[in-house]
Amino acid sequence: MRVDREVIDGSTSGIRSNVEEVRNFKTILKNLIPENTLKLIPRSYDVVGDIAIINLPKELLSYGEYVGKAILAVSKNVKAVYAAGMTVGEFRVRELTHIAGERRTATTHKEYGIKIYVDISNTYYNPSLSEERRRVANKVVDGESVLDLFTGVGPFTLHIACTKKAYIIANDLNHHATQCLRRSLELNRKALKGVVDIVNGDALEVLNSIRDNSFDKAVLNLPHKSTNYLDETYRTVKEGGTIYTYLIATDKVEALNTLKTAVKSKPKVGEVVRVLDYAPRKYVFRLELIKN
Ligand SMILES: C[S@@+](CC[C@H](N)C(=O)[O-])C[C@H]1O[C@@H](n2cnc3c(N)ncnc32)[C@H](O)[C@@H]1O
Repeated sequence: MRVDREVIDGSTSGIRSNVEEVRNFKTILKNLIPENTLKLIPRSYDVVGDIAIINLPKELLSYGEYVGKAILAVSKNVKAVYAAGMTVGEFRVRELTHIAGERRTATTHKEYGIKIYVDISNTYYNPSLSEERRRVANKVVDGESVLDLFTGVGPFTLHIACTKKAYIIANDLNHHATQCLRRSLELNRKALKGVVDIVNGDALEVLNSIRDNSFDKAVLNLPHKSTNYLDETYRTVKEGGTIYTYLIATDKVEALNTLKTAVKSKPKVGEVVRVLDYAPRKYVFRLELIKN
């Protein structure tokens, strides 16, 4: 969930005033932070479960406590606030600095009523992708088998398993992430329709251990590197099966060119959809590849 602003009622001493004041956390900061600096603080932040995460430039960390407390003041459900830096390393984890509230990084986030256990200190999780996960889950049909090769804390897998009678292999190299998924499967056990096998391995090794034509669907959500794994994944997908892969490009044409250059297999390309902003003029695209 991304919060742009909050509505606070203007109650005084328990008596609700007639006028409802609408303000965001930056209004609170107006008297505390110089105007030029305030401009550099983003107006929105992510909320994962009961933890808020704001992208705060390093040079503004000295104002972190003010920013964190202002967010706590306007968001009743937020209990901890972290400033986030770059997403780093193989596990795609954000660099975090605690700025206010509880010193806790584990929480349970809800997407479409599905409980997702996340530890933001050692796993990747992006709440902005919830609709995208639902769209992909809606493409899976009861009885199908699915490979979620870079499952992270397993949000794609959980959407599929909670809505379809599918068999899913969910793999990630980060054992903190697969531990989170294990816990989420437990939290959602009453809602589960599908069956999930969790694997904690390197994607290439896992692909090498899978026979040709095994899966109806595969999801490859590692946008900056997914093309390295497409040929091997193509081999493991059944004829007529689909790979949903994500990659970074400036537009659809560049996305298709990147695919053509990187991949030897000749899949039929279906839908190409822009799903997320990545950097200035760079976006994450989902490409649908169908095996001939
Ligand atoms: C962008 S995250 C996506 C996670 C998940 N699909 C989601 O939507 O939240 C990519 C994931 O790939 C995992 N990863 C990176 N390299 C890997 C590899 N060689 N084998 C398996 N997993 C890998 C990372 O640990 C990370 O959890």
